[in-house]
Amino acid sequence: MKATAIAPSNIALVKYWGKKDEILRLPQNSSFSVNLDNLITQTTVEFSDDLRDDEVIFNGQESKNKERVLNHIGRIRQIAGIKTKTKVVTSNNFPAAAGIASSASGFAALTLAGAAAAKINLSEKELSVLARQGSGSACRSIPPGFVEWFAADKSEDSYAVSRFSARHWDICDIVAIVSNEKKDVPSTAGQKLAQTSPFFKTRIANIPQKIEKIKNCVAEKNFRLFGELIESEAMELHAIMLTSTPPLVYWNPETVKLIKFIENWRRQGLAAYCTIDAGPNLHIFTESQNAKILAENLASLSEVKQTIINRPAEGAKLSDRHLF
Ligand code: PMV
Repeated sequence: MKATAIAPSNIALVKYWGKKDEILRLPQNSSFSVNLDNLITQTTVEFSDDLRDDEVIFNGQESKNKERVLNHIGRIRQIAGIKTKTKVVTSNNFPAAAGIASSASGFAALTLAGAAAAKINLSEKELSVLARQGSGSACRSIPPGFVEWFAADKSEDSYAVSRFSARHWDICDIVAIVSNEKKDVPSTAGQKLAQTSPFFKTRIANIPQKIEKIKNCVAEKNFRLFGELIESEAMELHAIMLTSTPPLVYWNPETVKLIKFIENWRRQGLAAYCTIDAGPNLHIFTESQNAKILAENLASLSEVKQTIINRPAEGAKLSDRHLF
């Protein structure tokens, strides 16, 4: 049986950083994100007795993440009670070398396509729990729109739910690629250091309040407060990284230059605010009526190699357009 799914990537507005269970990928804190409509993974999974070996193809070539993908397929096989070999073909609508993490969209699409191909009927919650075990942030790409992922002690309690639909608020996230180099410290390794920061406990204690605040900003569509909150949250995340042992510096000079440009544009009246994950690239939010001017400003900078314009997106969905 063959099934195909498409899933969006998501950007965390209140970030997940630090795990309390490495194997189950249970996060130290709850997080809040929005799905992105222009960073999409499409994946076809087939389980068939005719297959002699497991095969994982990414953008036309054998995947470098074959082992991690097959581990996840193993979880699906276990639920379905099957031993059949599998073929997985996956492609992204954004360049692999863009320096944008694709594990969220990738593992969300793999989870939905894999479950459908194995003919197991899972609820949205169960799909989110399963996706989380492949890649933490992937659980947030299952439900639609603006999403909250709960921290919990038990696997079945740590999943993501939609808080606002994709159409609730017409805002825009422009990804500004300043570097497409692979990062020195992958986020999985970086997260292990989170607890070594002396400020980590304070961060964790303040997260529930922060999530309430961000939900209120989105509910009221208060863009200025929303922007201030996501930008200060990103700075806090990077403060944790910088004060870990050993310190983690994910930014490069272009990242800092861009932060300064954005501050300057704000002074001139353009309401734009950034957030940054475990890497040097920026996600810059603005309201839709300002998207064109922000995109033009970014494109004019020599520091920016590429921009990708996103709006809030639906969650993972099945598709009948198979990749093989
Ligand atoms: O999903 P991972 O293990 O690659 O961790 C990603 C963590 C951040 O992107 C920095 C924050 C988040 O919540 O997505």
